[in-house]
Amino acid sequence: MTGKIGKILGLNKGHDGGCTLLIDGEIAVNMSEERLTRVKYAYGWINSLKYCLEKTKTRLDEVDLVVFSDYSDKIRGDYDGRLSYFGFPKKRCIRADHHISHACSAFFTSPFDRSLVLVIDGRGNNNNTESVYIGEGNSITKVGGNPVANYEKGIVAAYQAFTSYFGWHQNEAGKTMGLSSYGNPNKFSNLSLFTETKEGMFYNNLEYHTADGVGEYFKRHKVIVPKKFSSQVLVYKDMAAWLQAEFERVVIGIINKFQKETGLKNLCMAGGGALNTVCNTKILEKTNIEKIHIFPAAGDPGQSVGNALYGYYIFAKNERRIRVWKQDYRKDSFSENEIQKMLKRISEVRDLVIPKSLPFRYRTIDNPAKIGAKLISQGKIIGWFQEGSEIGPRALGHRSILCDARPENMKDILNNRVKHREVFRPFAASVLREKISDYFETDMDSPFMLFVVPVKTEFKMKIPAVTHVDGTCRVQTVTKTDNGTYYDLISAYYKLTGVALILNTSYNLAGEPIVETPTDALRCFLSTKMDYLILGNFLVEKIK
Ligand SMILES: [Fe+2]
Repeated sequence: MTGKIGKILGLNKGHDGGCTLLIDGEIAVNMSEERLTRVKYAYGWINSLKYCLEKTKTRLDEVDLVVFSDYSDKIRGDYDGRLSYFGFPKKRCIRADHHISHACSAFFTSPFDRSLVLVIDGRGNNNNTESVYIGEGNSITKVGGNPVANYEKGIVAAYQAFTSYFGWHQNEAGKTMGLSSYGNPNKFSNLSLFTETKEGMFYNNLEYHTADGVGEYFKRHKVIVPKKFSSQVLVYKDMAAWLQAEFERVVIGIINKFQKETGLKNLCMAGGGALNTVCNTKILEKTNIEKIHIFPAAGDPGQSVGNALYGYYIFAKNERRIRVWKQDYRKDSFSENEIQKMLKRISEVRDLVIPKSLPFRYRTIDNPAKIGAKLISQGKIIGWFQEGSEIGPRALGHRSILCDARPENMKDILNNRVKHREVFRPFAASVLREKISDYFETDMDSPFMLFVVPVKTEFKMKIPAVTHVDGTCRVQTVTKTDNGTYYDLISAYYKLTGVALILNTSYNLAGEPIVETPTDALRCFLSTKMDYLILGNFLVEKIK
């Protein structure tokens, strides 16, 4: 391949598929397939490729390089999801190893010139499960990996098996993590879920990577459990707590080993295991790591980003640009005109879109932040849709459902009327960056909501809707420069109430992907008992 490589497409055809277009080393646009197909964890890239090309007015033949990350060693005949059908030349396609791709998404978006990089993943090439790298400049070098090379024996596989055992989709690890706070991790301290290898890595001791494997494991150790799972049954809570403690033990064990060997104090993490927010906080407490960077799309939705960055830095060997990576929400906004047209159209055919939904009215508003703050302070649940969507699975104030964290019953109201989540699951908070240490025992940055922090004792009763049973909160820090309109909303709420944080949950129904378009947002609003929707500069309310 000769000439400048300016436009690079990263494609992921696997689960959580998607597309990223990198232009001159910057993420010009990224899209997950599930956001467009409305099917959670959707495979493939065809819709997101079309979206990325249209948004950037790029033709496919203008693309210099396409990077795939499949599990084979070479580019397949039809190029991984049939890119060949579009006449794109095979000589402009390369492939990246799945774990290297994860490592690229973490390291090349980090502010570090040199860092330890840990990938904790369900399954990589050659059945790899955990991989350790050193990132330096524009290179990433592997320094360790799980020698077992069997994805069923991995750390994430064990977490998935337990999550299935509890009756949830194996990717719903957040539910298991939420339940773990209710149990006693020492209840099974005579058992060991993981065994250490001589290389300092770990494999799980389940016979099968399934719900049955977990059942067999406890049967083998003579643990008696009721046949049907319930989050109310103590033994299940204890199992979740023990699983979480075992997960932390081995992740921290791996990091400690490589931290000591390398002396590095920066850590980048990726793979689904990096979304374990409770463990992420413990890493800072229990290792010599001083700074952690986790790309918000740490799981496979980040593969397309990692692939494109692999093409730019590792394949094309471009010089590293080091800076704090930020979500750029403004790139992908919907115009006022587009939103207004949609509202008008759906108001005319509402019954066909959402049968039995209430009619609605809408009006433009001058100051969405101020009006949103007032409604939240009055105990209303609002849908909040501003600018472009977030990269990754966390809603960060662009596709969010927001409400007041102070009322004791707010969590139940939100669940009964909108989210319908399990009662034991906590809700997260968004706090003004400069106020985090007023409410929490920390002064850290957490812009992507990837850490859990202790709530100060005096505030536990004052913000009960975001205080978990163990006295912690999953927190997002919000700054004016990174997240202006959302910052203005929380500031306006602070002026009204004296509290500088609000409850923030993702804008979706249980089991659905986060809303992407104004139409998705309106449809979700009409299907639930949300009180108001602020859609750009429009206030939407139902007519009762
Ligand atoms: Fe992965």
